[in-house]
Amino acid sequence: MRVLHVAAEVFPLVKTGGLADVVAALPAAQAQQGAEVRMLLPGLPSVMDGVQHARPVIDIGSCFGALRVRLLLARMPGTALPVYVLDAPYLYRRAGSPYGNHAGEEWPDNLQRFALLGWVAAHLAADDADLRWRADIVHAHDWHAALACAHVADHPAGEVRSVFTIHNMAFQGLFPLHDWPLLGLASRHMSPAGLEFHGQLSFMKAGLQYAHRITTVSPTYAREIATPEFGFGLDGAIRSRAGEVVGILNGVDAELWNPATDAAIPERYDLKRPQGKTTCRRALQAELGLAVDEKSLVLAVISRLSAQKGLDLLLAALPQLVAAGVQLVVQGGGDASLEAAFRMAQEVHPGRVHVHIGYDEARAHRIIAGADAIAVPSRFEPCGLTQMYGLRYGTLPIVRRVGGLADTVHDAATALGNGFVFDEATPTALASAVQRAARLRATEPQAWTLMQERGMAADLAWAGSARRYLQLYQEAAGGLAGPGSEVGR
Ligand code: ADP
Ligand code: GLC
Repeated sequence: MRVLHVAAEVFPLVKTGGLADVVAALPAAQAQQGAEVRMLLPGLPSVMDGVQHARPVIDIGSCFGALRVRLLLARMPGTALPVYVLDAPYLYRRAGSPYGNHAGEEWPDNLQRFALLGWVAAHLAADDADLRWRADIVHAHDWHAALACAHVADHPAGEVRSVFTIHNMAFQGLFPLHDWPLLGLASRHMSPAGLEFHGQLSFMKAGLQYAHRITTVSPTYAREIATPEFGFGLDGAIRSRAGEVVGILNGVDAELWNPATDAAIPERYDLKRPQGKTTCRRALQAELGLAVDEKSLVLAVISRLSAQKGLDLLLAALPQLVAAGVQLVVQGGGDASLEAAFRMAQEVHPGRVHVHIGYDEARAHRIIAGADAIAVPSRFEPCGLTQMYGLRYGTLPIVRRVGGLADTVHDAATALGNGFVFDEATPTALASAVQRAARLRATEPQAWTLMQERGMAADLAWAGSARRYLQLYQEAAGGLAGPGSEVGR
């Protein structure tokens, strides 16, 4: 089976969040299971610089406002997986994130930038972009790639099927409806049954309406997005495709996130040699100027700073937690007011709170290895990866019971306890979960160790979920008459 993964980011070339980790690890796991997997990425500067052995496939010429568009075929560094890169200097070669400039403003031509991505993906499936290869399955990730599903539906080429994965329902790719002609899609899709969303044009809807199968990144989130509370206005669209929406839990890249082999941490450790974790903890406290003591609970946060992540709850609970002896280590970036609030917290609590505003992959490994616990108090969380990284490193997650957090973390009070879970999105509920953790660590070290061991021994690798996706492709390929038909509804 030939699978084309289409996405805006992939680790280690370009990453703003967990999407990049998934787009790196899932295709690699599927390739190991025998699928013929390729990727399609926009030619962002770090992608152009980071891929290897690039060679031209086809000169596309001028389209979507760009004068020169070329399709290249290259190899991913590390995995050597084949990756198509869209070289469109005018659209993609800019300093900033894949989605906007350094000031956080979205690129004004995001419609064209991601319309091109979806359009070329569909051509790779239709056998006329690369004459030596075509996809059987186009797997589009998030709204950036979603238009591929509409094009595949519009030009059904042989047995091609599309799968759309929702990594985050909050980001939908909304644009003014009057920009419709720029898309290059038939006008019959310009309706509420197509891409129109309350007078706007929604890229996300191209995936929701036209993909043969829809997935999201945890079973709980799959149920949640069918409700108004979590659906961001698209819960009706999800409900209307109920039988075709599946939650498949993300995995962890078990080589990259492995304390036994991690080159970024001061001493490696595993279940048999757990003492390395103590070294990592001391080294972290010393590196960050925190009091080097055994007693405090060292609580970590590695996160985008956005409303989704519920970190305002942590800020509100902080005075109480610091008074109870907790040390907090935060690394993140995003929302300017949250950045400022965390900087302020560091000033107010010197030696107890350390805040690093910025992105640093190796430092994230050191923090996760050195901390006792990792907090993910999200308001919603499609899957969440850092709580799973915590489990791998014996760093107990403290999470709110939502989305993938609910599927991966079990409270200490249950038989399979591997962390701490709270329900209400309030500072009090979060504070009491953190205090439960601090108490358990201080008073029942054996119970704490048992939970660490449970997390470290758990199989969080991608193999199972990668296989589940392959099964889903098979299901989509067989027996399904396609979206819009009565069959498969
Ligand atoms: P989301 O995708 O919603 O941001 P996830 O938990 O799925 O949340 O993934 C976040 C990913 O980004 C993880 O790999 C995490 O380690 C990483 N990350 C987030 N912020 C930072 C940061 N400031 N420095 C390093 N890594 C970060
Ligand atoms: C999104 C979600 C996060 C998920 C990640 C990878 O960014 O916010 O919960 O883990 O995608 O699927």
